[in-house]
Amino acid sequence: MRDAAPTTIYLKDYTPFGYIVDSVHLTFDLAPHATRVKSRISFRPNPEATDTTFFLHGENLRLIRASIDGAEVTPEVTGGGLFAAAPAAPFVWEAEVEIDPANNTALEGLYMSNGMYCTQCEAEGFRKITYYPDRPDVMSTFTVRINGDLPVLLSNGNPTGSGEGWAEWTDPWPKPAYLFALVAGDLLAHSDSYITRSGREVALNLWVRPGDEGKCAFGMEALKKSMKWDEDVYGREYDLDVFNIVAVDDFNMGAMENKGLNIFNSAAVLASPETSTDANFERIEAIIAHEYFHNWTGNRITCRDWFQLCLKEGLTVFRDAQFTSDVRSAPVERIRDVIDLRARQFPEDNGPLSHPVRPESFQEINNFYTATVYEKGAEVIGMLKRLVGDDGYAKALDLYFDRHDGQACTIEDWLKVFEDATGRDLGQFQRWYSQAGTPRIKVEEAWADGTYTLTLSQSTPPTPGQPQKHPQVIPVAVGLLGPNGDEVRPTEILELTEARQSFTFQGLAAKPVPSILRGFSAPVILDQDSTPAQRAFLLAHDTDPFNRWEAGRSLASDTLLKMVTQDAAPDADYLDGLLAVLRDDGLDPAYRALMLDLPSQSELAAMLHDRGVTPDPMAIWTAVETLRQATAQHMQDVLPRLHSQSQVDGPYSPDAEQSGKRALGSAALALISRQDGGAQAASEYARADNMTLQLSALSCLLKAGKGETELAAYYDQWRDDRLVMDKWFGLQVALASPDRTPQIARQLTQHADFNWKNPNRFRALMGSLAMNHAGFHHESGASYALLADWLIRLDPVNPQTTARMCSAFQTWKRYDAGRQAMIRAQLERIASAPDLSRDTTEMISRILG
Ligand code: PHE
Ligand code: ZN
Repeated sequence: MRDAAPTTIYLKDYTPFGYIVDSVHLTFDLAPHATRVKSRISFRPNPEATDTTFFLHGENLRLIRASIDGAEVTPEVTGGGLFAAAPAAPFVWEAEVEIDPANNTALEGLYMSNGMYCTQCEAEGFRKITYYPDRPDVMSTFTVRINGDLPVLLSNGNPTGSGEGWAEWTDPWPKPAYLFALVAGDLLAHSDSYITRSGREVALNLWVRPGDEGKCAFGMEALKKSMKWDEDVYGREYDLDVFNIVAVDDFNMGAMENKGLNIFNSAAVLASPETSTDANFERIEAIIAHEYFHNWTGNRITCRDWFQLCLKEGLTVFRDAQFTSDVRSAPVERIRDVIDLRARQFPEDNGPLSHPVRPESFQEINNFYTATVYEKGAEVIGMLKRLVGDDGYAKALDLYFDRHDGQACTIEDWLKVFEDATGRDLGQFQRWYSQAGTPRIKVEEAWADGTYTLTLSQSTPPTPGQPQKHPQVIPVAVGLLGPNGDEVRPTEILELTEARQSFTFQGLAAKPVPSILRGFSAPVILDQDSTPAQRAFLLAHDTDPFNRWEAGRSLASDTLLKMVTQDAAPDADYLDGLLAVLRDDGLDPAYRALMLDLPSQSELAAMLHDRGVTPDPMAIWTAVETLRQATAQHMQDVLPRLHSQSQVDGPYSPDAEQSGKRALGSAALALISRQDGGAQAASEYARADNMTLQLSALSCLLKAGKGETELAAYYDQWRDDRLVMDKWFGLQVALASPDRTPQIARQLTQHADFNWKNPNRFRALMGSLAMNHAGFHHESGASYALLADWLIRLDPVNPQTTARMCSAFQTWKRYDAGRQAMIRAQLERIASAPDLSRDTTEMISRILG
């Protein structure tokens, strides 16, 4: 059925629901095409509400019968739900509906994946299961009975009964419907247990399809580590007798924190050394932690409405990043997060899709699960912690859990606990939640009579709907280095609150070199006119690991930009500085590998655009290739030794130490392959005994225009492993040379294994196409057309995944008139597709602007 006409929903219009739900009883009679759902819900009038309309959400439901207090009623059914006449006293609503999970390809509500029943209810999927006030501020306990002829029947909470063909689950913790989950299938458990710090035993199960049992151990360890960490660091204990995780192959996102029954995209939980890379392991560990941490930040304390999404997501991302820093390397984690923020959030914040961390309006909430809400939302919490200090943060969090347990909250509630716990006024800080766009900070320096003055100016460019910006409070971490490289002033947080503000440092013997925005203390763009020599100095001496990396990074972008705009040669300061870093065995291999990384081509395009230059994707690609070649040449002597790091002693482990060595070894192999045409990579491929090394060797070969035999061998080896085949599809497109990208991508869409209805497979191919900057922006426009064709095809099947992929076009206004015209034509073609979903309609219209 077509979605109802798009309407815009506003934060300012919030009103509470007219009724309180005291309990929910659900009975499912499972059948692929005709599942019956019976509900029995106790309502009572909400004394705090003025609007007493009894409206229940419901979509794609066939209503069989409904009653109030046992008396049959005939509600007025609309496209989005139903209205009924409700008594002004407590009453029991009962209904029975029929749904068709086997035909649910949108993967929202109750659907099927490989014969298994599975649900996804966030944000508004529960209304596709039964009639209900499907809004997060309506919280209730749930009892669920599942009748079905399948060996494993799961729902939220604790098991309270089971027999042949049925099971009952009771969740004692009141929750909003978006946290409801049901799973039924032929699954196997990888089981373990955990004793909480107060001594309760919790049964842990990771449920997978037969054949995947060997890929569970790592996820289970990650879960136990997360449970322990949340007790140790936040004082948060788990609160049910069982914690279930289920892996499902067809899933729109990474994973979902349903109470006591997390549902994971297989790609976000299944892992083995043979089939997963080190990066996969690290991501899985972080996602397991993230979903587990939601039990307190999201579930016990939830969101009043979907505008408050960052309340749970920003905080939970912040917590999972803290966890990763603790169990792995803090500087490496920070650098990776910033790389990711710049790759995904900055383009969003500086383009047509820009929106505040807490949006003020939306048409389709699914379109707001964004890098801004998640990643910038986490950065905002990092700043808050920097401003109030570690103790202030700890006090505020304790107060948050004390005061708001069991409630559905707002950002105002969140900021209030910080104000109450620390006495600090956060009025100006609130702008981080309401003002969109990335602030830019300009740096000026002055030096006289032993006094060094740093003048910082902030400004934020206009964003859609917000032409005028006001100064924000920005914590700028600064340290000063003396001319010999010694630190003469340790890190201090400067609080920039005005549009322009000066900070002085007295009693210095010589003009210092400033190290600004240490640890990336705020999500801003720093605009500093340093010379390559100053950057090289920081690369050699900065005591802050983040800024040391940043110095190398900015040397790299400076030289690349000059290569593009002035036809300059690769900069010697960059190459020499990098060589010194690579030679320094005192530095963590993972850190050195990050030093070898270059800014992405898309990031370079944004930098050119910022400087008033229209980016030419081929010129950027050529500059990167030239710099890589020069790097390979310059580093020649150290490369074999760096590469040998990837051969570690002992059995494979995805831990920080081993994976860091492999990262460095792989980066070295990539450079070696530029010198030897892939000869060494071919032999590495032949002897690789884990996926990290196998994939790194294959990448080198593909980059070198080789690897045909290996691709075929890989296919034969892994054709039955869905996740490993996703990599096969993705890599070929990601590493295709620009001229061949559209053709290679098109051919792969014709491959028998291009199962495009599976979101992971679709994203592997189309996501890689969008990420191959020069290939995506092929001058023929063929890649744009290919992506648009597939978005049009996917939209009726899966609007959510389609809409997310539209963001591939969000940067279109950076490019030349010819490319803009071609992209516009594709966007308009998508917009005019018949019956386009609300999700995609909203995205395209925002991108077109
Ligand atoms: N709430 C999930 C998370 O971040 C993400 C998600 C959103 C999953 C919507 C599915 C649908 O952990
Ligand atoms: Zn989350």
